Amino acid sequence: MTSLKTSVLGIDFENPFLLASAPPTAKIESIDKAFSLGWGGAVLKTITPDDLEMIEASQRYATWHNGSKVCGFENIELLSHLTIQEWLDGIKYLKQKHPTKVQIASIMAPVVKAEWQNMVKTFNHSGADAFELNFSCPHGMPEKGIGMAIGTNAEVSAMITGWVKEVAELPVFVKLSPNVTNIVEIATAVEKAGADGLAAINTIQSLMGVDLENFEPKPNVNGQSTFGGYSGIAVKPIGLRCVAQLRQNSKLPILGMGGISMWSDAAEYMAVGADVVQICTEVMVNGYSIIKGLKKGLEDYLEHKGFNSPADLRDKAIKNLTAHEKLNKAQQVYPSINDEICIHCGKCVTICDESEHSALTLDNGHIEVNKDKCVGCSLCSHVCPKSAISMK
Ligand SMILES: Cc1cc2nc3c(=O)[nH]c(=O)nc-3n(C[C@H](O)[C@H](O)[C@H](O)COP(=O)(O)O)c2cc1C
Repeated sequence: MTSLKTSVLGIDFENPFLLASAPPTAKIESIDKAFSLGWGGAVLKTITPDDLEMIEASQRYATWHNGSKVCGFENIELLSHLTIQEWLDGIKYLKQKHPTKVQIASIMAPVVKAEWQNMVKTFNHSGADAFELNFSCPHGMPEKGIGMAIGTNAEVSAMITGWVKEVAELPVFVKLSPNVTNIVEIATAVEKAGADGLAAINTIQSLMGVDLENFEPKPNVNGQSTFGGYSGIAVKPIGLRCVAQLRQNSKLPILGMGGISMWSDAAEYMAVGADVVQICTEVMVNGYSIIKGLKKGLEDYLEHKGFNSPADLRDKAIKNLTAHEKLNKAQQVYPSINDEICIHCGKCVTICDESEHSALTLDNGHIEVNKDKCVGCSLCSHVCPKSAISMK
């Protein structure tokens, strides 16, 4: 019997879909609504000591659209604006009302042992199920020496993880930054320092664009901007790569995220190592109600594959990731053109010619493949406006 239930470090999830730490988890009443709609859990918007200044800019978002679809999303937002007491009351309220839902307290503090340990002690018995250490916010916080300034430094990441583990009575996940040369180096350091699990990815440092009339960058804050964090559909390949690299090098549980908009994205994250997944941007652009389709889609897929639970899917693709030098280069594929769909526009012919290989010709209303010239790169299949080309 297929079920979406899964368990990580002794924490039971009724389904593997969590809201990521972000605006959808910034208010208690919103999380309450999300839980009622079926989300399995929520990572709370990052909580900081009350005296840490948090002054937001307006506007704080910029997007890259493809038609009406938001593909890429940049934000320069800071962290939670609720006080510690408001969170303590809120977590307790939510736990009483939704005892089966998982709440993960995302925390950040200045690089001072007592500050981090106070945060942990404050939330140890709050009703939260775990901690997520935000070592990865790429804007605003690094200027204060925290956020990504921590997560890009293996030594400091390990030191703070150690401080936290000294006093934590709940499992500790470390949320890693993709803005590093080698994410595994940071993961290994925090694992050695006692982290119980990993979370990845936070947003990717970015600059959404520049208005070419007045040379004001986006998001525009009174004519100026700052580098922000990129998320949404466009970042999925980077998130998947990071999670796969983490899994190749660690057995720790992984909370995977970055660009998940459909159940199949979540399934791919699990296949490369995620135990459960988190979603932020897709919820910000389409609302909490997407949970219904996510759950149904994943459940149907698990059943179709004969898997009992998300745990059966975990890591399934890892053995198929290898070094370039180990790939089987003896095998070559060629384009196969579906003549019923092809509109003979000739785009594939032009592109193949102008991008090195000149292996395609349009003869008598049919695309011919010269197998002596074709290298099976697959470019033609990606540029065909009618998806009439598949690689066989
Ligand atoms: C507006 C916004 C605010 C965010 N705030 C936080 C935060 O407070 N703490 C945190 O750990 N991550 C924060 N994130 C990062 C998300 O939790 C998530 O790691 C990232 O957006 C990638 O997931 P996605 O592509 O599903 O959005 C924020 C993201 C966005 C877009």
